[in-house]
Amino acid sequence: MKLGKKISEGKTKIVYESDNPNEVILEFKDDITAGDGLKHDIIKDKGYLNAAISAEFFRILNKKGIPTHFIEFTPPRFMKVKSLVMLPVEVVCRRIAAGHLLKRLPIKAGTNFKPGLVELYYKDDEHHDPMINEDHIRILNLGTVDEAREIKEITVKVSDALAEYLTSYGIVLADLKIEFGRDKNNNLVVGDEINGDSCRLWDEKIEGKIYDKDVYRKGAPLNKVKDTYIELYKMLLKKDPKLG
Ligand code: TMP
Ligand code: ASP
Repeated sequence: MKLGKKISEGKTKIVYESDNPNEVILEFKDDITAGDGLKHDIIKDKGYLNAAISAEFFRILNKKGIPTHFIEFTPPRFMKVKSLVMLPVEVVCRRIAAGHLLKRLPIKAGTNFKPGLVELYYKDDEHHDPMINEDHIRILNLGTVDEAREIKEITVKVSDALAEYLTSYGIVLADLKIEFGRDKNNNLVVGDEINGDSCRLWDEKIEGKIYDKDVYRKGAPLNKVKDTYIELYKMLLKKDPKLG
């Protein structure tokens, strides 16, 4: 795998050109952030752990026939993916009420949603990623109302596929956030990353035991946060990570 020119850099990933114009390479950084980047730290090997877990999640989705950008994982921290034009939208699917939902609506923590509750957010730091609906997608020229519905349908499929897979490892998927892009044929494809940074993952048996970035958001020391990512890696990949 040959790294080409750097195309862009975000809080947790760098995008590079590859030797194929239809493919790009993602590098997962060791940075961890929360609260619109206000909280920021570096955790050695976090990029590797998250890249490996993302690759595993994308393999599950590809096997289910859900369109994703994932092509290949190159350890420790690179992923070859289809080149997409990303939509500035975060799509959340909530299976169990937690997090910000509890601050916004009179819904009890732990309420189950079947089918999953899907929410769209416009990625715009200045406006603090406001929640939007299908009409806003149209008005912001991001897509048609039908495409917004397609995004929501695919998101429920992603959530159901990952929940089914995680259950077999004793993990409950409480919610997740995914992002979409368009491929060269204008098809909507799941892009970005899916891992403990973008999902709430709870132990099925041990109340309060979590395997995701909430550990960091709630202020745990960085070694504890790293242990959480290692634990998730070991549970899902059934081997020890090769830490540097
Ligand atoms: P929320 O309860 O904070 O809205 O989060 C819902 C899910 O989305 C949770 O799994 C965390 C994830 N998420 C992100 O990945 N990025 C974000 O910027 C936010 C706000 C949430
Ligand atoms: N993704 C956001 C950040 O990195 C917020 C979060 O995940 O809590 O700032």
